[in-house]
Amino acid sequence: MTSLSPAPVPDARHATPLDVFVAGVGHVGGALIDQIGALPPPSADRPPLRLIGACTTRGGVFAHHGVDADGLRSALADAPAPDWPRLLDQIVAHAQARPTVFVDATGHPAVADHVEPLLAAGVSVATPSKLAPTRSQAAFERLRALGDGGLAHFRYEATVGAGLPVIGTLRDLVATGDRVLSIRGVFSGTMTYLFSQLERGVAFGEAVRRAYEQGYTEPDPRDDLGGEDVVRKLIILARTAGLRVERSEVEVESLVPAGAAGLPLTLVTDAFGADDGGWAARVGAAARDGQRLRYVGRVEPGADGRGRLRVGVEAVAAESPLGRLGGTDNLIEITTARYAHAPLVIQGPGAGPAVTAGGVLADVLAVARAHSR
Ligand SMILES: NC(=O)c1ccc[n+]([C@@H]2O[C@H](COP(=O)([O-])OP(=O)(O)OC[C@H]3O[C@@H](n4cnc5c(N)ncnc54)[C@H](OP(=O)(O)O)[C@@H]3O)[C@@H](O)[C@H]2O)c1
Repeated sequence: MTSLSPAPVPDARHATPLDVFVAGVGHVGGALIDQIGALPPPSADRPPLRLIGACTTRGGVFAHHGVDADGLRSALADAPAPDWPRLLDQIVAHAQARPTVFVDATGHPAVADHVEPLLAAGVSVATPSKLAPTRSQAAFERLRALGDGGLAHFRYEATVGAGLPVIGTLRDLVATGDRVLSIRGVFSGTMTYLFSQLERGVAFGEAVRRAYEQGYTEPDPRDDLGGEDVVRKLIILARTAGLRVERSEVEVESLVPAGAAGLPLTLVTDAFGADDGGWAARVGAAARDGQRLRYVGRVEPGADGRGRLRVGVEAVAAESPLGRLGGTDNLIEITTARYAHAPLVIQGPGAGPAVTAGGVLADVLAVARAHSR
């Protein structure tokens, strides 16, 4: 019998760090910088990371030799507005010598435009922004090919369910040869809050006002209630599951009344009250049948490899997991050939700076692990 000698265990403390540039130091980017600053010492699962800069619309810092989290924050406070062409040149040149990841935590389309050229230049990208992965199917396939780990890595776990392990789970199911039969869920904490209010007898317009005043909606509530955020999450899930889909193919029920479309923001919450009676009747009819209304997103594969996607209000059994969902949680059910009799269920808070930054940090560490192998 051949005896095998144990492989040497690499000492993570001396591994080359992954260098991290953070674009966007708002709720998520700020929490990410703090979480990187507070990481325990490197280990086999946690290769070393090093911050090399950050930017907002007001300031940009690039520190070739690395900087700690506090130093980065104080340098940002005094820095001039970022010169993007120069900044991108610096990041690309840096990545020629050292493994580098660019985090897009801006949610801005001009920054999402940089994702593909950065990947093509060998800079890995991790992002909680849904913008880059929801452009055309062809654009998504380019990002996937450029970011497959050959030249660089493209990771976007926090785009769906924030820190919940949704994208990684789906990727693992597909990679291990399972077949996705359907994905169904509630992907908007704002909508869950809204429908829980309706069940308590609160009028629709008043429920929107409460969600807005408590900060559960986007600054303009039409952005949540139009359903576009859920549409983007579904497109990302469908494409991650290997299905092809364009935005124009998604069926979406908007909860924004026609009269609210062109109004200034100050008048918008009043306009949501236009159909209070219709909503009360809908909620009442569902309750008489033992059901509750939820804003549900569905993905189903078509025979042609294209995804069939629908986003809208559905009546679900009050005692089902979706019916019992409360607070601002997300709940995602994935039914596959292996999980055919009961779906794999992922549930928990689907937004918030700390959990979202944690999801991005998990992506950054996955890139670091891939580089340290
Ligand atoms: N917040 C959440 O719970 C959550 C959950 C899941 C996903 N996300 C996604 O995470 C991303 C960030 O969200 P957030 O809540 O952190 O947003 P945020 O608080 O508004 O912060 C955005 C940051 O990006 C910066 N920025 C915007 N455009 C820029 C540009 N062109 N160049 C440089 N910097 C720019 C802003 O700069 P200034 O400070 O100068 O304005 C700000 O620092 C979004 O894509 C969002 O959809 C957020």
